[in-house]
Amino acid sequence: MDQIMIRGGAPLHGEIPIAGAKNACLALMPATLLTDAPLTLTNAPRLSDIRTMTALLQSLGVEVSSLHRGKVLALSSHDLTGQRADYDIVRKMRASILVLGPLLARCGRAEVSLPGGCAIGARPVDLHLRALEAMGAELELRDGYVHARTPGGLKGAVVEFEKISVGATENALMAATLAKGTTVLKNAAREPEIVDLARCLRAMGAQIAGEGTGEIEVQGVERLGGATHQVVADRIELGTYMLAPAITGGDVTCLGGKLELVASFAEKLEEAGVSCEETAHGIRVTRRNGRVAGVDVATAPFPGFPTDLQAQIMALLCTAEGESRLEETIFENRFMHAPELMRMGARIDVQGGVATVTGVERLKGAPVMATDLRASVSLILAGLAAEGETMVSRVYHLDRGYEKVEQKLGACGAHIERVSGE
Ligand code: EPZ
Repeated sequence: MDQIMIRGGAPLHGEIPIAGAKNACLALMPATLLTDAPLTLTNAPRLSDIRTMTALLQSLGVEVSSLHRGKVLALSSHDLTGQRADYDIVRKMRASILVLGPLLARCGRAEVSLPGGCAIGARPVDLHLRALEAMGAELELRDGYVHARTPGGLKGAVVEFEKISVGATENALMAATLAKGTTVLKNAAREPEIVDLARCLRAMGAQIAGEGTGEIEVQGVERLGGATHQVVADRIELGTYMLAPAITGGDVTCLGGKLELVASFAEKLEEAGVSCEETAHGIRVTRRNGRVAGVDVATAPFPGFPTDLQAQIMALLCTAEGESRLEETIFENRFMHAPELMRMGARIDVQGGVATVTGVERLKGAPVMATDLRASVSLILAGLAAEGETMVSRVYHLDRGYEKVEQKLGACGAHIERVSGE
């Protein structure tokens, strides 16, 4: 298995291009199932999660062509051959559940394996299922699968989510585009990935209003057509790379970044003493004078502070002056990076959903292990700032969500390389 080796201490200077959003692309790809016309996604990220979604769609009969070295995905669901998403693929990636709504809407039936828990928490899919039931789906849980039918077709409904869920909002939104009548999604997620999905669906002919607010209204249509859609920039990749000059000191512009995608996160960086400025090309981040200050962070659904940046900002706060309090409110087990950061000399005390970080002057390189995607990149950030050598193992987690990390950071002066395993 590959490892990433980092020799810390070099301040970063330069430009880092931001790719299309993994989590937007994982919702946009299943939208192909809603139509027999071609759907083309540009600015797609080149990641192993995208390859997993490709394999899942291909298993349903979707033709997927990867063009321009993977940056463009041409999808056609003209000849669907199946409605079953197998456990073998779903267990690798929870976003597989996003085929359920579109399959049901287009084919009137679907069988999708239940994803089960994952490293960061239990992550049930009850909200997805209840939304589809409200639209008239008949669901049965059997042999680890959701068996879903809509004998009379999906019907528009008022769906009020008990809790804000990105995936459940996406599944319900896609299903509602082909339901009979009007669907209102209340307490809907407002993430930029939802807005991006709604824009793509609208380009395909869907009638949607209110995306980006807590209430989305969808007027069902008879059929959807094809479209070409550009995937929105990855706000989590953006936030991650904004932290690189923040933690090492330096001056980096994240090309293609927009502050509106990361407003609550950028506010915390500013509070800590890091400057984030939107320019014509992206977001320029500079930290020149001394250590950052400790800040308190609580994760929340968008526009709040993203849970997907909690591990990364923790790496920064490990070297801050003073104490920081990080509260994780979305997932119950998302502090697995803390013990690894402590192996590098960080002082962190985790009590339930709250981590208290007491900043130290300098982290020290160590062999560490990635436990999930965002944890793995937080260890890389920590390694960039640490004294000596850090070796991060289990980097297959990293490859799920970050393309070319070594090249992107290396081009800004980081001493980082991938060490190939057998
Ligand atoms: C999406 O996951 C992202 N994944 C996650 O990114 C991200 O952490 C999460 O949203 C929160 O922002 C993709 O978009 C592919 P949720 P999702 O449904 O949709 C609970 C990353 O690192 N819940 O918004 O699965 C759930 O357990 C990943 O890129 C239910 O109780 O997240 C959680 O506590 C990790 N029942 C909360 O809601 C349900 O049916 C929010 O989860 C669904 C969710």
